[in-house]
Amino acid sequence: MCGIVGYAGNKEALAVIIDGLKKLEYRGYDSAGVAFQKGNDLVITKAAGSVASLETALGEQNSSINVGIGHTRWATHGRPTDENAHPHSSCCGKIALIHNGIIENYRAIRQRMTSEESHKFISETDTEVLVHLVEENYEGDLLQAVRTALKDVKGSYGLVVISSAEPGRMICARQDSPLIIGLGEGENFIASDIPALLAHTRRTIVLEDGEFASITMDKVEVFDHKGQPVEKEVLEITWDIEAAEKGGYEHFMLKEIMEQPTAVKETMRQRIDVEKGRVDLSELAFTSSQLESLDKVYIVACGTAYHAGLLGKAIIEKLANLPVEVDVASEFRYREPLFKKNQLVIVISQSGETADTLAALRLARQKSLQVLAITNVVGSTVSREADHVLYTWAGPEIAVASTKAYLTQLISIYLVALYFGEVRGAIEKEYLSEIVKGLNRLPSQLKDVLSEESVNRLKAYCEHLAGWESAFFVGRNLDYPVAMEGALKLKEISYIHAEAYPAGELKHGPLALIVEGIPVIALATQKAVLDKTLSNIQEVNARGGAVFAITQEGFEDVSRQVESIFYLPPIEDILAPVLSAVPTQLIAYYAAIARGSSVDKPRNLAKSVTVE
Ligand code: F6R
Repeated sequence: MCGIVGYAGNKEALAVIIDGLKKLEYRGYDSAGVAFQKGNDLVITKAAGSVASLETALGEQNSSINVGIGHTRWATHGRPTDENAHPHSSCCGKIALIHNGIIENYRAIRQRMTSEESHKFISETDTEVLVHLVEENYEGDLLQAVRTALKDVKGSYGLVVISSAEPGRMICARQDSPLIIGLGEGENFIASDIPALLAHTRRTIVLEDGEFASITMDKVEVFDHKGQPVEKEVLEITWDIEAAEKGGYEHFMLKEIMEQPTAVKETMRQRIDVEKGRVDLSELAFTSSQLESLDKVYIVACGTAYHAGLLGKAIIEKLANLPVEVDVASEFRYREPLFKKNQLVIVISQSGETADTLAALRLARQKSLQVLAITNVVGSTVSREADHVLYTWAGPEIAVASTKAYLTQLISIYLVALYFGEVRGAIEKEYLSEIVKGLNRLPSQLKDVLSEESVNRLKAYCEHLAGWESAFFVGRNLDYPVAMEGALKLKEISYIHAEAYPAGELKHGPLALIVEGIPVIALATQKAVLDKTLSNIQEVNARGGAVFAITQEGFEDVSRQVESIFYLPPIEDILAPVLSAVPTQLIAYYAAIARGSSVDKPRNLAKSVTVE
């Protein structure tokens, strides 16, 4: 994910900034850049690739630079190139800006500026409009220019701006993207993350949404959105560097689980319109007639992404009235699918580099089918070779076990289904609007599911689970793929053998394995099949199995029939898989912790599987 570092002080700014950027490398990035003042001018140096490449590009810079900003970019809008790297510069060359986040209305602003011929655009990024807006509003005070510019902006940002007209001063602003000010003696810092600051100071100020700050080597001033000065509390950071990299969590996996409300929000940003009750995926560039004439979709993926695909089948069939087949990518080629025209292949891949998924994509293209890729990595092979790309803006996922990427894959599938459904006239307007509202509620519902109390309940359950070598996950309808994903997560990181079954299948064989006390995690979130799932739970109870149910508030019958229970906030059946995945992730995580497994790097597994 993008990283920000800014410095004002008497040390050599470039060395401080480069060191800070290196401390943020673990987050993943694909280009880097710095801006600093030299004489009366701003110098901007950028390089696609690593911070080391940036150092080479910088060469020997003179050591009297005291203020500067630096950025590592993880591509979202536009490929990872030198031009798209930050900082971006105003046309006059006097203002430089770095930015984390997404500007939702950048297209409209860019169009306006282009038609007025008022600014020249160098990059493909959403960020570049910001620096031009600051330039337009500059009347001698950089803070005021940034405040005025941001009134025209919709989206998320953590940004820092410098200007050669005001040497020694950094202006920053935050909305939905973190910024932390580091306080030193005769020097001050700004960063997106604590690890970049720890070598220099532990005294920090956390900017809140809507706040701005003006930072020089000897003064830090914070203002609210109305421009009123704000007294900020100074916080002392006690984490060591390792804890800081994980945001204070013990493992990347837990950090990534906790990031899901934000990741889901980012993936929907710009794409759902709650007021109009619609989804806009015009970024995919399908023509209406292409979508109207579709008569089949294949979804192809591996592992966790395949489970998102299984849910995709149910979701797309229901919302877009389109038949869907789902395949494990490593099998797809060998079953010789009956390709016909008017079919679409959707590949899902977090990394965008999975060899089997890539082979499926190439086969489809060779047979002249259109391919839509749902991926998390801009510039990945899958994204370059597909006809259409929908990015899951989850940010880099470091833990091997996929969590936030999975949830955002799922969100992307709802978006595709709703968009296709509307274009194809397959979904009632009211129902579409209802689901869009439901999607919009998900980030706050996810926060509830991740509350301390909920997490503690799951943690306590895992003390029991961790003592077993075998466990079952069961569910019906949309709960079944969630059960499959829950079982995969548990095996993968806790090494407990876990099997997932459609709840109704137990009696056709696996019931023979149900013994006194064996853990059975029952997903019971689907109102439409609740009674039937309850009957299956009774079958387990009768053989002494210990059922832990994941259900919705309001499904009170469940509690009377199980040993322990976890309630999700009330939610429509079709959206429930987004919430129900989270307790299964936490169960896997805490079972792994209780068994002392290596959570972030499970044995025998790699994050990106580039062999067939
Ligand atoms: C499991 C997991 C894997 C991946 C699979 C596909 O937690 O992460 O099953 O989902 O290897 O990887 P991508 O999505 O990168 O194609």
